Order: sequence, then C-alpha cells, then structure tokens
Amino acid sequence: MTSVLENLALDSEPPCTPTTPRPATVRIGQLGLGNVGAALARLTAHSSVELQAHGLAPVTPVALVRSIDRPRPAAEFVGQLTNDPDTFFAQPLDVVVEIMGGVEPAYSLVRRALDRGVPVVTANKSLVAAHGEALCDLARRNGTTLRYEASCIAGVPFIGTFDRRPLASRIDGLTAILNGTSNTILTAIANGSTFEHALDDAQQRGLAEPDPSADITGRDAAEKLTLLIRQFGRLLVTPDAVPTTGISGVDPVDLRAAALLGGSVKPLAHAEWNEGALQAFVGPAFVAAGHSLARIHGATNGIVLHSTRGPLCYAGPGAGPDVTAVTLLDDVCEVATESRVQTPNPIAACAATPQWTQESGWFVRVEGRPPAIETSELLGSYGLWCERTATVDERLYALTYPTTAAKVHAALNALRAATGDAARALPAFSAEGDAC
Ligand SMILES: NC(=O)c1ccc[n+]([C@@H]2O[C@H](COP(=O)([O-])OP(=O)(O)OC[C@H]3O[C@@H](n4cnc5c(N)ncnc54)[C@H](OP(=O)(O)O)[C@@H]3O)[C@@H](O)[C@H]2O)c1
Repeated sequence: MTSVLENLALDSEPPCTPTTPRPATVRIGQLGLGNVGAALARLTAHSSVELQAHGLAPVTPVALVRSIDRPRPAAEFVGQLTNDPDTFFAQPLDVVVEIMGGVEPAYSLVRRALDRGVPVVTANKSLVAAHGEALCDLARRNGTTLRYEASCIAGVPFIGTFDRRPLASRIDGLTAILNGTSNTILTAIANGSTFEHALDDAQQRGLAEPDPSADITGRDAAEKLTLLIRQFGRLLVTPDAVPTTGISGVDPVDLRAAALLGGSVKPLAHAEWNEGALQAFVGPAFVAAGHSLARIHGATNGIVLHSTRGPLCYAGPGAGPDVTAVTLLDDVCEVATESRVQTPNPIAACAATPQWTQESGWFVRVEGRPPAIETSELLGSYGLWCERTATVDERLYALTYPTTAAKVHAALNALRAATGDAARALPAFSAEGDAC
C-alpha cells in the first residue's frame, strides 16, 4: 500500500527527458489546517501541473493542529496530522507555512523553524505586527527567510515586489483600505443599510468573522498598518500605539451627507513618515470621489503608496482562504527557487511613536441642525474654516480646509460649550495627488 505522499509523488511524476529535468520536491510543513490551511493543502495537491513547469513538486508531509480527533476533509492532502510540535519538527522540511493565527504559540514555532535554517511563510498579521523585526533578524542570522505577503491584502502580491526593488520601495507614506469587513459594512450603509443589518448580512455571507470585534474596532487594520510602516518606513510601532477609531459610530445619515459633499466615508489606514517622525491613524475618514480609494467597495482592499514619483495603487481581494492560499504557495515557490536565500528588509527598523497632528481637511458633523452661517463663523474663529456645508436630517455637516486635529478639537469644544450641540469630526482626504 502506498502512502498519501507516495501517491502524490507518483501522480506528480513528469516524464523525464534530458530537456525536462525532474522537478524538485518541496516538503511543506503546515502549522495549522483550518480555513486557510485546508485551502493551501488542497491547492498544493492540485497545482502539480503548473508548478512542475517551474521545476517544483510541492508536497505536504505534515500539519500541526490543535485537535487530531476532529474529522477534516483536508487531511487527505497531508501525509501526517499531529498535535505534537516535536513530531512536526522531526520531519525533514524545506519550508514551514504558519497559518495558525495569533501570537503564541505561532511565535515560538516560527522561531523554532528559523533557528533550524528552515524558511517560513506566514499569513499571520498579528505575529508579524508583534514580532516581524525580531523574526526577520533571526532569519537573517540563520541564513534563511521569512515571507509574509499573505498577511496584508492577501490576494494582491505587492510587498515582495518592493523587497526586490530598493529604489521603487522608497515610499514616504501610504493610504489604504486594509479591512474588507469594515469596507463591506460601510459600503452597505452607503447603499441604505443600518450598521446592525450590514454586519449581520456580512456575517451571514461569510465576509465577517463570528466575532468581528477586531475588524470593527480597527485593530485588524492597525496590525496591518504596523506591518506596512515597518516594511516601507523602516519604523517600529506597536498596533496599540496607532491612534485607532472603529467604524461603529458611522451611520446612514453620515454616508448621505458625505455623498452630498462629494465623497464617501471609508475605513482608512494612513501613515506618512519623514526623518523618523511618524504620522498615522486608523479609522473612518471622508474620501473625495476622485481619490483612488473612493472606488474600492465591499470586501475589496486597496492601497495607495505615496512617493515623489507619484502614487502607486494596488487593489484586489484582501482575504478568503483560496485567495490567501495562492499567495502563500507562490511565496513557498519563490523561497524554494531562490538560488541564494534572501531575507527581506536588510535595513534594521527603529522605534517611532505615531501621532496624528498632521494638517488635513475634516468632515465635521454637528447635531441639532444649527444654522450654517453662525456655526461656520464660530468654527472659523477657532481656525476651522468650512469649505462646503450640507444639512441632512437633524445635522449640519461641513467639509473644512486643512488644519490640525488640535484646532478641530478646540473648535468643536467651543461649539459644544456655546450651543450644547454634539459634534464630531473625521479626517478628510481630497483626490489631489491620490488618483491613480
Ligand atoms: N481566513 C482568511 O481569509 C485569512 C486571510 C488572510 C490571512 N489569514 C490569516 O491566516 C491565519 C489562519 O486563519 P484561518 O482562518 O485559517 O484560522 P483557523 O481556521 O482558526 O485555523 C487555525 C488552524 O491552526 C490550528 N491551531 C490554532 N492554534 C493551535 C495551537 N495552539 N496548536 C496547534 N494548532 C493550532 C487550528 O487547529 P484545529 O483545526 O485543530 O483547531 C487550525 O487548524 C490567521 O493568522 C489569519 O489572520 C486568514
């Protein structure tokens, strides 16, 4: 009787002639066989034709899981299923793919692989946000590599491109939609849904997790932004330090007002850096209609990278097991075919404290339908000048000229004190320089 692995090897055996050398077997150890892990194991087993053309024959000899008793269809694509890390690491492996999620035990297990000189590919943004620099450093010291393309905008391979292009990767900021769940909900609200109904619908369609708190609070996007700030800005920040606002305060009236003022409200992650100083935030923001990210709807993610050469824009699926598996397996193939293993990010990053003191436009909302002219004059006396206003239901909305968050807060506090009206403001982004 032949094993699954032997069967896989037999199935994938190509006719060997002098011009078609035998493809190299790539032994993948999977840390995790959940949603993404199952899709990856299946894809690995079913991609032999495409990958043989690239000289590779990947197989999955072992996967580490929590429970080996639970029946799981993807087990048929894996040589051995274990819940014991020692059994996992007893296998000779060419690449370890980490798709367990969370920080521990993923961090210890990834360290263990890198310590042995085994390259690691991961989709885990929490791990890379918390320990990316330490893991890249460990990989470098062991002459191996850590790849994390699938951990941010999983279906759009762009991070690795910049690893190999030191000049193109001179970026001085980025603006992005990094969380498909939040974007799905705000898109649905813009189309007339309530927040609760939009969330419920996203969960029923599998676009939001059963526990969507990391998406809605902005935590997920803050982790991804942290990773991108390290990658492109060479600055180390923790997700907790990024000023972050969730999307739960945005309602259908806000979206209608944004449309009247020439844009929409999007769940943004933004950062810009200059000589070690970092401006960054995560949260809902007004985006003018001509901005590249105004066209990114639903579960799609998008990113605009800013440089003196002009904006670079990428958009596509941000998550989904099948999409993520493709990016992971491509990373495996790259690692396996590199003649000399190269570790991304050879320049060490340094610590920074993100803040949001930058001048920007603001999308201001004042409750109680106050008179537009008097309100604009009061805000103007605090340095907050309104470019346009719109009254929707019982609220006055204004789009302001650029100013700092400190001036906005002072003006809104003065307004509250004078009129008792509740007010809030979101950063506003014009299309200038951000249309791809
Ligand atoms: N889902 C997506 O669309 C997507 C997209 C991009 C990135 N990601 C990232 O990919 C990673 C995996 O996501 P997922 O949706 O596949 O998660 P998941 O379905 O929860 O799968 C996690 C897997 O890891 C195993 N595992 C977890 N903790 C373990 C432990 N302590 N010891 C041994 N095994 C353990 C689980 O074992 P059991 O099966 O026995 O529970 C399961 O097989 C996460 O970092 C996520 O952020 C996901």
